[in-house]
Amino acid sequence: MAKRQITFLITAGPTLEDLDPVRFLSNRSSGKMGYALAEAALKTRHKVVLISGPTSLKKPKGAKFIPVRSARDMLTATLKQAPHADIIIKSAAVADYRPYKTRSKKIKKNTNRLTLTLIKNPDILKVLGKHKKNTQLLVGFAAETHAVLHHAQKKLFEKRVDWLAVNDVSRKDIGFDADENELLLLARDGRQLSFVKQSKSSLAKELITLFANEWSNKFGTPPKP
Ligand code: CTP
Repeated sequence: MAKRQITFLITAGPTLEDLDPVRFLSNRSSGKMGYALAEAALKTRHKVVLISGPTSLKKPKGAKFIPVRSARDMLTATLKQAPHADIIIKSAAVADYRPYKTRSKKIKKNTNRLTLTLIKNPDILKVLGKHKKNTQLLVGFAAETHAVLHHAQKKLFEKRVDWLAVNDVSRKDIGFDADENELLLLARDGRQLSFVKQSKSSLAKELITLFANEWSNKFGTPPKP
């Protein structure tokens, strides 16, 4: 089958959940893996929409870039873009919880103990899994510190993704903020692929090639006679 230009929708970076005008809750994502995926897809001449939480990285040239702040912003932007995407890669580290209330005024330190009430954020990947089109590939990421395979298998099925890229974030040499990564890729059909430790950009290249080939083989348009 002929390969046509594929539209990738990639989410990257952390989300920030505001507590008051000067403070927020977030996580340790640098966004490097998601941006590397966007760069790799652009290099292979695919279309890229990058929805990103705040990072210090340079916007990939040629991508449609949509900056967001909170998980709820990311949900809105992602649902708007998803119908136009062939392959959706959710590499963002979405904050699972946000403060129940965002205060309009700075919280003053006039008590010794401060209790925060948090409320669960929407699970964007799960929502995407429910509404996925037949001709779309959905790729999730999993950050695990223990019982890695057990938790990853659970996520693969609960979130209805086609592929889940599993990171062991308990290791300092890979994962959060590192320039290198090592991944286990689980497919819904039972395939398991290991990617050895390498730069995030070379890993991204391998992943993009694999996902693009998979999409083209399954859904790509046949060549014109
Ligand atoms: N994810 C999401 N929305 C959330 C939380 C996670 O879309 N509110 C997505 C991430 O972008 C990632 C995948 O779900 O692709 C797995 O994220 P991870 O943080 O590993 O797992 P959680 O689902 O948050 O579960 P837990 O924190 O219990 O491991």
